[in-house]
Amino acid sequence: MLLMCYNNPAMTIIHNFAAFEGGDGSGTTTQLELLRKRFAGPGLPPFHAASEPTGGPIGVLIRRVLKGETALLPETAARLFAADRNEHLYGPGGILERCGRGELVVSDRYTPSSLVYQGIACGEELPASLNASFPLPELLIFFDLDSETALKRIASRPGRDIYEYLDFQIQVRTRYKALLPGYEEAGVRVERIDASLPPGEIAELVWRAVRKMPILEGMGAKN
Ligand code: TYD
Repeated sequence: MLLMCYNNPAMTIIHNFAAFEGGDGSGTTTQLELLRKRFAGPGLPPFHAASEPTGGPIGVLIRRVLKGETALLPETAARLFAADRNEHLYGPGGILERCGRGELVVSDRYTPSSLVYQGIACGEELPASLNASFPLPELLIFFDLDSETALKRIASRPGRDIYEYLDFQIQVRTRYKALLPGYEEAGVRVERIDASLPPGEIAELVWRAVRKMPILEGMGAKN
C-alpha cells in the first residue's frame, strides 16, 4: 500500500535535487555542512543546503511541536510537515525554482522522513496520501546507524525531541530500510552509507555519491 504510490509512472523526479535521510543522530546535518563547504571550492555549480522542517512559519511551529512545547495530534503534525514541504518545494526561492535555474539543492530530510516518522506516529495511510503528489529527488542518501549508537550521540545534546527515544528510533531504522526499495523502483538513485564510520570517511562517500549527479558532469568534479 505504502510503496504503491512510488510505483506511479507519473511521479516526476526533480533534477539537481538530493535528499539526506536517516534516524535522529545519524549525522545528516553534519554531513550537509561538510558538503556545503566542499561546494565553496572552484569549478562547481551553485549549491544550496536546505532542511526540513524549514525555517519558515510552518517549520517554526513544527519545531515547537518536536520540542514538546506545543501539543498537537500526530495527524495534525503530519499535515504540518506536508504543508511546510509544499512551501519548501513551490514557494519563492524554493527547491523547484533553485533546481530549475541550475543550482544543486540538497535537503536534510524530505518525503521519506514523513513516511517513516509519521507512518509510526499516526499510521501509514495519512502520510502516504499527503505526500503522494510531491516529486521525487534525483538522489537519496540514507545514513544508516544502529539506534543504540544514535541515541548515545543524541544524549550529549541539550534537550530531547519527541521522537528521540530508543523504541521509536528502532522502528525508524526498520521503516527506512523497508521504504528505500520503493524509491529505487520509482527511479530514484538510493545510496546507503554506513554512518558509524568517521565523519571524514562518510564525507568522502557522500561526495562520491553526489558527484555522479548529471549537474556535476564536465565541471571538474570527478576527483
Ligand atoms: P532533524 O532533522 O534531526 O534536525 P535537528 O537535529 O536539527 O533537530 O530533526 C527533525 C525531526 O523532525 C526529526 O526527528 C525527524 C522529524 N521529521 C518528521 O517526523 N517528519 C518529517 O517530514 C520531517 C521532515 C522531519
